[in-house]
Amino acid sequence: MDYKNVLFEVKENVAVLTINRPKVLNALNPETLGEIEDVIDRIYKENLARVLVITGAGDKAFVAGADISEFPKMNSLQARLFAKKGQDIFFKIENLPIPTIACVNGYALGGGCELAMSCDFIYASEKARFGQPEINLGIIPGFGGTQRLARLVGRAKAKELCMRGEQISAQEAKELGLVAKVFKPEELMDKTMEVAKALANKAAVALRAIKEVINRGVEVDLVTGCALEVEAFATSFASEDAKEGATAFLEKRKPNFKGSFTS
Ligand code: COA
Repeated sequence: MDYKNVLFEVKENVAVLTINRPKVLNALNPETLGEIEDVIDRIYKENLARVLVITGAGDKAFVAGADISEFPKMNSLQARLFAKKGQDIFFKIENLPIPTIACVNGYALGGGCELAMSCDFIYASEKARFGQPEINLGIIPGFGGTQRLARLVGRAKAKELCMRGEQISAQEAKELGLVAKVFKPEELMDKTMEVAKALANKAAVALRAIKEVINRGVEVDLVTGCALEVEAFATSFASEDAKEGATAFLEKRKPNFKGSFTS
């Protein structure tokens, strides 16, 4: 299927979704959000890939936020629907049963920062800039920013970032725990793909379990979280890849994981 605002390809089990509106720094309008949703639905329903990388076209921006040119024509009810739509799509990304990496090549502001935070982790270029600048437009983040940022960097820092609306560098974002690794701009995509391909060759049931247990576990008390871990441990133990992992270790060879979701 052809898209107007995104590029999508799958190579060696790694899907790359590129937000492709470089003239407006890859700003998210409703049509772009719809195309992102379509890609995510296809990856999920058609089992298209074992890892997803999300990035932005051009060398200036990952995504510079929701498309502000849409705002003047929106009333409060439409704004509610727009925020809900964005949140639903970002939940779909967060809940994909495969690892997702945000490859942040430039500005990740507003909806861009929120999109990156809905991925499992963020790799950033030294030139990347992060922020929730909505306050400067007289509004607040609407695609989960207040919530995911607070969970990732803590309440006080999240409040400071959302209240001041200032941008921070990739290095500052790394120090806060928002970004996992920072790379030279020219190395970012290659390094990200290296990790993505390595993840695509790991045990898929175990990867899915790690993701689910951490995502759900941080929202509940420790005892409940550990109970979730026990269940997920048992599920991963019953997978084909778990048998292969232990056998390969005992036979002193590299495991050949199939990545099947059956257990
Ligand atoms: N929505 C719509 N258009 C956007 C946009 C957005 N979120 N972010 C950038 N653009 C457009 C600009 O309007 C400009 O279009 P033009 O060439 O037709 O004038 C183009 O992208 C380039 O942006 P520009 O502002 O000229 O680049 P810059 O290098 O001077 O500044 C930013 C870059 C990211 C600092 C600046 O574009 C910006 O502040 N963007 C808005 C960020 C924001 O508030 N996001 C949250 C929205 S809720």
